[in-house]
Amino acid sequence: MNIYAQILRRKPPAAVMADLYQVHTGLKRALGPLDLTALGIGAIIGAGIFVLTGVAASQIAGPAIILSLVLDGIACSMAALCYAELATMVPLAGSAYTYCYATMGELVAWIIGWDLVLEYAVGAATVAVGWSGYFTLILKGLGLRLPDALTHAPFTRPGAIINLPAVLVVLVMSAILYVGISESARVNSFIVGIKLLSIAIVIVVGAFFVEKRNWSPFAPYGLLGITRGAGYMFFAFIGFDALSTVAEEAKNPNRDLPIGILGSLSICTVLYMLVACVVTGMQSYRTLDLNAPLASAFFERGLSFISGIISIGAVAGLTSVQLVLMLGQSRIFFAMSRDGLLPKAFSRVHPRFRTPTIPTILTGIAVAAMAGLLPIDLVAELTNIGTLFAFVLVCLGVWVLRVLEPTAPRPFTVPFVPWVPLLGVVFCGILMVSLKPLTWVRFLIWLFVGLIVYFLYGRKHSKLNAQNQLKAAE
Ligand code: ALA
Repeated sequence: MNIYAQILRRKPPAAVMADLYQVHTGLKRALGPLDLTALGIGAIIGAGIFVLTGVAASQIAGPAIILSLVLDGIACSMAALCYAELATMVPLAGSAYTYCYATMGELVAWIIGWDLVLEYAVGAATVAVGWSGYFTLILKGLGLRLPDALTHAPFTRPGAIINLPAVLVVLVMSAILYVGISESARVNSFIVGIKLLSIAIVIVVGAFFVEKRNWSPFAPYGLLGITRGAGYMFFAFIGFDALSTVAEEAKNPNRDLPIGILGSLSICTVLYMLVACVVTGMQSYRTLDLNAPLASAFFERGLSFISGIISIGAVAGLTSVQLVLMLGQSRIFFAMSRDGLLPKAFSRVHPRFRTPTIPTILTGIAVAAMAGLLPIDLVAELTNIGTLFAFVLVCLGVWVLRVLEPTAPRPFTVPFVPWVPLLGVVFCGILMVSLKPLTWVRFLIWLFVGLIVYFLYGRKHSKLNAQNQLKAAE
């Protein structure tokens, strides 16, 4: 087979599904619509709203951050509709990676699988560092001071050795993921309850302290500020797509995945806009705290008790984001290994816990190392660009598959194709363009490294490789 045929080889949805039924997935189907919606909320509400709002409102968009969030909401809803169509058509663990395999061929699929590491693993490490910041602040409030050397990665400040709280929380989350999907979903639902309560308190109590004069000027940084704010705040929306990676663990994926994906995104979009209205209304955007904007808005008003509850909600919120993002990462590795693009051992499932053993452990170790030892802030924006890239390809994938496989069964259909997917591409594209040039450079370097790995390993070991198919038939 020549190289072009090789890298463009694709796996039509029917073949993907046939494979699934031949190779029993081994994962446990335990998730219902509520679990899925809670997992979505668990992944979405986190560092974005609890931490990034401060910088976005005070330095990038002003009170018009509310409009930045609307822009993000529109881009994400187009992508979410596309995810829902593909996730019900090909309900497998690989998510965007698998959809690209079915539409744009092996090389694009590999690139997107590689790219998703930025969303899930780098995203989880970034959130773990944010978690550690909030956690040490709470301990400090209780009179317990952890030494700087043990709460910061090397080179981020003099004498720093390791961000130990970040490492520990990642390892605990990985242990939960290791012992089972039902256990993980239960822990997630509990945490989601706490964070929704704290968001509700922000909105309801904060509404009494809103002063209209704080919304003027509304857009001090102009239209550009609103777009840049949307690119920056996009992080807050990341996560609903992680649901598509647990498609093989959903009891009724055709009905429940769209409910989970669209439901969790809609709930979070409304909550975010309300939070942004309240927080920018409570204080002048110039005085918002950069590290803990929600909690400190209440603290400044003398409501330290409420500020404490919000901090607890933030710590809880950031915990479940790590859990679900690492869940997504392990399932992507699992799916890539099943196709032969990663070593076989990655698709082995634990006989008792029915979770993918090696991907779960490796993801945990890698995320813990990144969170504990790297100046992760430097690469955090990579999570946004990586996710946006995946969204663009998923939107395109819906359109491509409508052309290539017009009659394939589609339990959920995106309305107004090709307009909705195309708008998704345009909106996500605008957000990508609004990111810093350095982020683009780092992103392209990451993809280039991925290409090298593909040509050295994946291309040869792919199950679609003719020689490997012959070997399997023998
Ligand atoms: N959306 C997630 C967060 O804001 C990644 O933490």
